[in-house]
Amino acid sequence: MTEVNVAIAGCGQWGVNHVRTFANAPGCRVSWLADTDPKRLAKARELARGAKTAPELEAALKDESVQACVIATNSESHHALARKALEAGKHVLVEKPLALSAKEAGELVEIAGRKGLVLMVGHLLLYHPAVNYLKGLLDKGELGQILYLYSVRVNLGAIRRNENALWSLAPHDISVMLYLTGQQPTRAIANGKCFLQKGIEDVVFFSLDFPGGQVAHAQVSWLDPHKIRKFTVVGARKMAAFDDMEATEKIKLYDKGVNQEIRYGSYDEVLTLREGDISIPYFRMTEPLRLEASHFLDCVRDKKKPLSDGENGLAVVRILEAITQALKSGKPVEI
Ligand SMILES: NC(=O)c1ccc[n+]([C@@H]2O[C@H](COP(=O)([O-])OP(=O)(O)OC[C@H]3O[C@@H](n4cnc5c(N)ncnc54)[C@H](O)[C@@H]3O)[C@@H](O)[C@H]2O)c1
Repeated sequence: MTEVNVAIAGCGQWGVNHVRTFANAPGCRVSWLADTDPKRLAKARELARGAKTAPELEAALKDESVQACVIATNSESHHALARKALEAGKHVLVEKPLALSAKEAGELVEIAGRKGLVLMVGHLLLYHPAVNYLKGLLDKGELGQILYLYSVRVNLGAIRRNENALWSLAPHDISVMLYLTGQQPTRAIANGKCFLQKGIEDVVFFSLDFPGGQVAHAQVSWLDPHKIRKFTVVGARKMAAFDDMEATEKIKLYDKGVNQEIRYGSYDEVLTLREGDISIPYFRMTEPLRLEASHFLDCVRDKKKPLSDGENGLAVVRILEAITQALKSGKPVEI
């Protein structure tokens, strides 16, 4: 396996997970760590011994032996750092959201395409074995057509100052909605409130309409007594729930639904409730970040298009923009 030489920018609360994961990934060497905070840099270096350190990513970009960069800094610097890394000829994995506007996200997609570089976004849930199990159920027709789906992603914290709960939390929900439906939404409606900081929503409720008639709804908040990370998919045949707070029983499959029957001798349609078994399917659980990192390294080695590529990151940012517009105007927004 060819070794991939990686530089990581941003060794904060989440970034250290990238440092640990890439440092332990087979066929990978973490050769540079960058963070403007020297304390965080020193702590991260304990996880990737031998890595050189710098306050900025620029030093690593000048190193010709570095093939790929992981950008896990605060969202407002994603675009500038990713652009510099791509322009320096490095493959890039950027944390979500890819950028803070569709214009900036589109620019990154364009540069990566022109230079033939891998651009991947950290839409972590697309690498979650439970989400892939759900996707498999849908692809096999086990749930029937999706009628609607909803997600709840709430907790007390982490409160951010430079982005609202929508941009901080919802990229995950939106990326899963796109993945499971296999469609792009056409319309967004939203409601949200700023309680703690002026102009920064702590709680956002939004719905997306899909061309197939499905609707996807989400509630995201960092001001909530519960820690909930849950998706529910209501299909025409069966229903399923993915609860990421469950240690082992992450997916429950409900053989529940409503049968529409035409009774013999009558033209009336009769709706009968079907209350069947609830099952807990087995699937092999592996840490999603490990799978995400390994996919990125494979894409770099084989010049493959990642599952969460730049286009996918751009699609999510476009939807975040539409939801933001719906939030501000209080009106539905066509996407
Ligand atoms: N995929 C996930 O599940 C997940 C989870 C949490 C956070 N995130 C994302 O990860 C990113 C970081 O989040 P966090 O919680 O670690 O934030 P954080 O504030 O804890 O860490 C950010 C770090 O980046 C450093 N930094 C900022 N600008 C820099 C620059 N220009 N050059 C070098 N270092 C710089 C800061 O000093 C800090 O240490 C965010 O984009 C966030 O959305 C993703």
